[in-house]
Amino acid sequence: MVDIEQINPRNEAALRAWWEVGRAATAYRPGKPWPVWEQSRVALPADNPERGITLIGAIDGREMVGAGLLTRSLRDNLHTAMAFAYTRPDRVREGIGRRLVEELEVVAAGDGRTTVQSEAYLPPGGSGVPEAFATAMGYAVASRESIKELTLTDYLARREALAASAPVPDGYRVITFDTVCPDEHLDSFGRLLGMLLAEVPLGELDLEDSEWSAERIREAERRQVAIGRHVQTAMALAPDGSVAGASDVRVDDSDPAHGQVGITLVDPVHRGRRLGLALKVATHDLAVATYPELVSVDTSNAEVNTWMNAVNDALGYRTIETLLELQKTL
Ligand SMILES: CC(C)(COP(=O)(O)OP(=O)(O)OC[C@H]1O[C@@H](n2cnc3c(N)ncnc32)[C@H](O)[C@@H]1OP(=O)(O)O)[C@@H](O)C(=O)NCCC(=O)NCCS
Repeated sequence: MVDIEQINPRNEAALRAWWEVGRAATAYRPGKPWPVWEQSRVALPADNPERGITLIGAIDGREMVGAGLLTRSLRDNLHTAMAFAYTRPDRVREGIGRRLVEELEVVAAGDGRTTVQSEAYLPPGGSGVPEAFATAMGYAVASRESIKELTLTDYLARREALAASAPVPDGYRVITFDTVCPDEHLDSFGRLLGMLLAEVPLGELDLEDSEWSAERIREAERRQVAIGRHVQTAMALAPDGSVAGASDVRVDDSDPAHGQVGITLVDPVHRGRRLGLALKVATHDLAVATYPELVSVDTSNAEVNTWMNAVNDALGYRTIETLLELQKTL
């Protein structure tokens, strides 16, 4: 008999078993679909001011055969949660995935969440099991995204020409930092972050903008530092000193061979000056200089985000998967 149980992320043996199931269930995917153990071991039990997490396991006897994760934003979008289910490949089609999702939805509803979102990864432009599973569980496709990967060899081959094509515009400055925003730009950075959800194409995803106070930014930064994640950030400053745009590449101490793009945003007032490309070149240069072992960086963006796709293509990113953003109203 398979039981569904909550897993305490501070119980390292249980967390390891949970992590193994997720790794096995995602092993067929290209790129870097699952974090290294050391990152999960440190990040999942750590306090997180931004997000609450619940881990569940499907246990058969003494073995974990399914793993589920629910994340809830604590600072904004209090009506939403994100649910993820993983079934060990030798135990699929037994109803384990369904029971995991049902339990995650109960936890979400118990916390007052009314919209549950999820993600399904497919071969580029194709279809597959996760999509059939999502449909069976009542989730609709809210947005289509591309998962893209850049190898450092490809980047370095293009780097000089790119940098020449996107000089920092007259009067602007680009500064870089590791995770911790300089005090003098904090309030202005918060204003830019507050625009993110309004500016990023979200398709049908039911998400709302939120306020980023200086204190909220500092708390989020402290968590990144605590779990060994370096948010290598480039920030564009307008002639009046305000933050005109920002972009980052994140690299974990536990896995310095792989980076991940977090946010990229240029204030609409400052668009059309190739600041997006200049910022991305700056973050990628910073990552290359800081992590000699870096092999690849990945990112995802909406298929309809023409401008961001053009920038990423120019950098040398290639699409490796299609990501369906899923949504269900409870
Ligand atoms: C997707 C996944 C969780 C499904 O787990 P599972 O335990 O096999 O799912 P279930 O047995 O509960 O299937 C529930 C329903 O999903 C649909 N489904 C699942 N696998 C399917 C497949 N291979 N083909 C068609 N439909 C499928 C069916 O409608 C099924 O109901 P049925 O068996 O009564 O017909 C599992 O394949 C997995 O771990 N994949 C990798 C991770 C992932 O993509 N997770 C989903 C997004 S978070």
